[in-house]
Amino acid sequence: MNNANPAPAPATPILSVNNIEVIYDHVILVLKGVSLTVPTGGITALLGANGAGKTTTLKAISNLLHAERGEVTKGNIIFEGQQVQSLSPNELVRRGCIQVMEGRHCFGHLSVEDNLMTGAFTRRDGNAAIRDDLDLVYQYFPRLKVRRASQAGYTSGGEQQMTAIGRALMSKPKMILLDEPSMGLAPQLVEEIFEIVKKLNEEQGVSFLLAEQNTNVALRFAKYGYILESGRIVLDGEAKALRENEDVKEFYLGIGGEGRKSFKDVKHYKRRKRWLA
Ligand SMILES: Nc1ncnc2c1ncn2[C@@H]1O[C@H](COP(=O)(O)OP(=O)(O)OP(=O)(O)O)[C@@H](O)[C@H]1O
Ligand SMILES: [Mg+2]
Repeated sequence: MNNANPAPAPATPILSVNNIEVIYDHVILVLKGVSLTVPTGGITALLGANGAGKTTTLKAISNLLHAERGEVTKGNIIFEGQQVQSLSPNELVRRGCIQVMEGRHCFGHLSVEDNLMTGAFTRRDGNAAIRDDLDLVYQYFPRLKVRRASQAGYTSGGEQQMTAIGRALMSKPKMILLDEPSMGLAPQLVEEIFEIVKKLNEEQGVSFLLAEQNTNVALRFAKYGYILESGRIVLDGEAKALRENEDVKEFYLGIGGEGRKSFKDVKHYKRRKRWLA
């Protein structure tokens, strides 16, 4: 055996979700065996239409389902090599995994800076370290520095999304679960926010799981993607391969062969048949 050039060990994923099932209200089965992994230092997209189960998947990971009367009834979730299903959301944040909620939840009556500071509540490393990280957030989001004293409720949608991401950064995360950052924002702002996500990934080593309906932008910034339909992963692959996949082009990117077509216009059985064939 020649051991001179051993193959590199496969990178350990920071997150792996294994065959999870989620039920709301004891009866509504929403996730039907979802598995995915996010490599350490990766950006992975979780794509799918309205109601596919993206938010449910993220909330299952960050343990926020209880508030919704939801429960993981099968499978397991492993973050940095350890099962995390029984941890509280705060304990998970302390370990480095935090969710940025859909709809950019900010405390509207607090200033932008106070919103950011609330993100540091799980930290025990002192005020000086927290101030340093606030400066870092302002480096990545110069707009927030300008608006630091403004009441968050009166800032623009883009600024609120930035505040929500900045707030998550204040917990010093290793991984951010980012739910629909593009929602309701103008294309230029979406681009600006995704560029910042990319920089945070490259420069700060933060791993991302991005839930998005905006397939186009998500597949340009992610390295790998999963497509969720009615609570099941129906397709996954390298972002580049997904961008070139005819079905993805047709149903999610709106650039199919027969002219622009809305995903909603296509009969569901046809789509399933092609992907599962
Ligand atoms: N608390 C709840 N109780 C019962 N059903 C729920 C609850 N939350 C979500 N659902 C259902 O679960 C399914 C998946 O919803 P989810 O919000 O995870 O989808 P999504 O992919 O995030 O959609 P969107 O793109 O609209 O945000 C939907 O059918 C939804 O109606
Ligand atoms: Mg959602």
